[in-house]
Amino acid sequence: MKGLILCAGRGTRLHPFSYSQPKTLLPVANHPVLHYCIRKLREVGVHDIGIVIHPSQVQIPPLVGDGSQFGAAITFIEQEEPLGIAHAVQLAQPFLQDEPFILLLGDNLLMDSLHGLKRAFSEENSDGVVMLSEVERPQDYGIAEVQEGRLVSVEEKPRQPKSNLAVIGAYLFTKPIFESIATLQPSSRGEYEITDAIQSLINRGFHVDYAVTSGKYSDVGTIDRWLEANRWMLTRDLGVTHQVGDETSVVNCDIVGPVLIGKGCKIENCRLGPYVSIQDGVHLKNCTHIENSILLENSLLQDVTWKVTDSVFGRSSHLEGHSTDNSGVFILSDKSSIRIPAVKREEP
Ligand code: G1P
Repeated sequence: MKGLILCAGRGTRLHPFSYSQPKTLLPVANHPVLHYCIRKLREVGVHDIGIVIHPSQVQIPPLVGDGSQFGAAITFIEQEEPLGIAHAVQLAQPFLQDEPFILLLGDNLLMDSLHGLKRAFSEENSDGVVMLSEVERPQDYGIAEVQEGRLVSVEEKPRQPKSNLAVIGAYLFTKPIFESIATLQPSSRGEYEITDAIQSLINRGFHVDYAVTSGKYSDVGTIDRWLEANRWMLTRDLGVTHQVGDETSVVNCDIVGPVLIGKGCKIENCRLGPYVSIQDGVHLKNCTHIENSILLENSLLQDVTWKVTDSVFGRSSHLEGHSTDNSGVFILSDKSSIRIPAVKREEP
């Protein structure tokens, strides 16, 4: 069995961060989302993994290499036009050949393993399996209709969803998927939808099974969901503790875990946590309180006298200043800078 991870999406909802980095490289608990996907495939014994990238995403190959750091063999496949998931799968056909394969969307994080997906495939002798999870806003997803234990239909972002069971970003397919993809027309958003290809498989009489996961799942497609994924990954890995990387100094700080601090950071006179992840080379000095936030490499926060929450600081971004407000949310792109001078009060 092979693996295929799709990374070529533009990630517009994660601007400004996805302007400078592919969204699948944005870190959750200081690791790129893509690395979690590769590890998930390795956990179920998948060794040959194809990664679909856009030609402009030159940062991805060096961060993944040939896959040997994960015990995998990785092949890159280019998708020049953003024509959808089914289109990317079709482009990967020469790599996948006739073998069954697990497809993962590179911006989706799953807490559960892929064992359920694989088990449903081998036990039910199916032609395909989709992973399902209950979601709060079914109209944002591909939605499954299940009757008497069988998957009878799937619909992309329905206005009137037939259930709250979403097709999340993990699928298992066999050879007939390629014939289904070949019959597709682009959807109203101009993409070849994998949901339509699955419906075509069902219509053609193939047996598509499903596995429901109750484990956490996040499509790291917006800033809020990125922060949410970061919260649960930090909680899973650290509980209520904090971890500090090599050559990092922490002086006179109050830290409430989970908090993850990378290498080569300098942190002084700050209150941090919970749910803060700090990448390498970050400097923090005199920060009243930082909570539920992600700080990317080399960001610098100094003399920040209000509480910073639900914020993301881009690489080498800079925040300095005083405020009379109690708290603030900052979404600062790479290399951007904000400096707020202290307010001088006039004597009456
Ligand atoms: C895509 C799929 C959708 C699926 C979702 C999971 O949607 O088209 O069927 O439920 O991923 O994250 P998109 O993220 O492209 O809107």
